[in-house]
Amino acid sequence: SRDFLIAPSILSADFARLGEEVDNVLASGADIVHFDVMDNHYVPNLTIGPMVCEALRKHGVTAPVDVHLMVKPVDRLIGDFIDAGATYITFHPEGSEHIDRSLQLIREGGCKSGLVFNPATPLSYLDYVMDKVDMILLMSVNPGFGGQSFIPATLDKVREARARIDASGRDIRLEVDGGVKADNIVEIARAGADTFVAGSAIFKAHQSSDPHGYDSVIRQM
Ligand code: DX5
Ligand code: ZN
Repeated sequence: SRDFLIAPSILSADFARLGEEVDNVLASGADIVHFDVMDNHYVPNLTIGPMVCEALRKHGVTAPVDVHLMVKPVDRLIGDFIDAGATYITFHPEGSEHIDRSLQLIREGGCKSGLVFNPATPLSYLDYVMDKVDMILLMSVNPGFGGQSFIPATLDKVREARARIDASGRDIRLEVDGGVKADNIVEIARAGADTFVAGSAIFKAHQSSDPHGYDSVIRQM
């Protein structure tokens, strides 16, 4: 059996109390912290950068940090996030002029690497780099905002990506991001995903300062 990871997206957290929000989702059973980086260029929104990742590490967060780069270009921020304590760094192939090189930069910095696929981006970008990815991230919404609805065609793509991973025989995580809720997560897992990003489903359930305040929603997943 596969091990499943829940990755709360802090995009939907209360940024004024970010350290506490991250502590609380981890205390409530979350496995990794999903960190959405948007640059108002590759996507039409602006969020957080390496300084915030570093601040979470200084605050005492030891859980893996899963940095999702929605930026163009990617290479300089890859270096900055390596220095800031990222665990995973994933980027969209459209954001890099040299995908193979960007993947190598991530691994040379000691981080785990991954490619992110928008709903209409083909998985063929993986054809020659399966040996250079530790994670495949499938977007089930168009990137830029939390709180959008899951695009059903993603399920076929999850099955296709799972088949590619199994055929490769490699240890590669298959993550799904966007519109993941307690009522569709089982179906997404059955299609072959093992890592689940959830932003609004977790943080908008109720904002909470209770150290175990997100227990029930994370346990449902
Ligand atoms: C969207 C981000 C997601 C987002 C998911 O571009 O990559 O990680 O926070 O939010 P929900 O779970 O609300 O769809
Ligand atoms: Zn994301």
